[in-house]
Amino acid sequence: MHWTTLHWQGDALTGQFQILDQTLLPEQERMIDLTNVDDVWVAIKALKVRGAPAIGCAAAYGAVVGARSGEVSSVSAIRESLLQTAAYLATSRPTAVNLFWALDRMTRCANGYIGSDPTDFLACLLAEAHSIRNEDDAMCHAIGLHGAALLGDRTGVLTHCNAGGLATSDYGTALAVIYAAHESGKQIKVFADETRPLLQGARLTAWELSRRGVPVTVICDNMAAVVMREGKVQAVVVGADRIASNGDTANKIGTYGVALLAKAHGIPFYVAAPSSTFDMTLEDGSGIPIEERSADEITHGFGRMTVPAGVSVYNPAFDVTPAELISGLITEKGVISPVNSMNVKAMIEGGFSTNQDS
Ligand code: MRU
Repeated sequence: MHWTTLHWQGDALTGQFQILDQTLLPEQERMIDLTNVDDVWVAIKALKVRGAPAIGCAAAYGAVVGARSGEVSSVSAIRESLLQTAAYLATSRPTAVNLFWALDRMTRCANGYIGSDPTDFLACLLAEAHSIRNEDDAMCHAIGLHGAALLGDRTGVLTHCNAGGLATSDYGTALAVIYAAHESGKQIKVFADETRPLLQGARLTAWELSRRGVPVTVICDNMAAVVMREGKVQAVVVGADRIASNGDTANKIGTYGVALLAKAHGIPFYVAAPSSTFDMTLEDGSGIPIEERSADEITHGFGRMTVPAGVSVYNPAFDVTPAELISGLITEKGVISPVNSMNVKAMIEGGFSTNQDS
């Protein structure tokens, strides 16, 4: 049975924005209404909706929620509410560039509207949010096809965190590659790192792969080296939160370690991401802002005290994998390989394949 990660039901003025609350998975599958801008901000911050492309889609719909939250009798009042909402939602999480990309699109849509009918203006804003969601879905399917071609039959694939349908509009990025390979008849077996501290791999990746009928085995993060050494992994595929113009990639904390392990075992390490995840303003990964999250996630994970009181902890939510450890960046436009500034620029800004390996 399929699920809905996020959706908008109805028209712009009276419709409802709903998400699947991912903090409750895998125990409970519950859709919740985000009725005001604070609900949207908290949902993003608390990871009820998470994963870079899904955060972007949620922010776009959140902008519509905000646009209609004040005076709706004039275009200028609605525009003002939208601009305030965009500035506020931009403070929710710093690393995934899709958040800022989507808010920028909504802002440009609002500023570019030349009509005077408030109802039509709100409808245009909702149409832009739907476009962001639908384009994400199309990009994810294209990523799946490009990436599946890189995987052979009977392949063990290790992934970290959740870069699946739960992290996007529906089909995923890293998991799109796996879904497309599986759908084409290849036998793919997935090893999902549990992904401390919030267990996105164990709770979410294992949940959605099982839902879609893909064999999955959950391992603790510290087991990846052994699984690789045992010859069970032929490729690593992960997602991304922000990719700098030289290919350096921010993704869930622990990804860098997995990339080093893959290198040590001679296993290709791929990053799958749509062009909305590239930040071409950054020369390299050193400029990517890394979110630091609350110590509670480590000291009291899932309600149980696991660190003695008073002990300090460090909780960066993401790390940066240098481009030289990445075998290929799988985008909707094609595969970037080798990963360097010239090839990233050609693919992302040029829009046609410069892939030298296929
Ligand atoms: O903190 P999260 O759960 O939002 O982190 C998500 C990730 O790191 C994903 O791998 C990334 O956003 C890619 S999602 C297609």
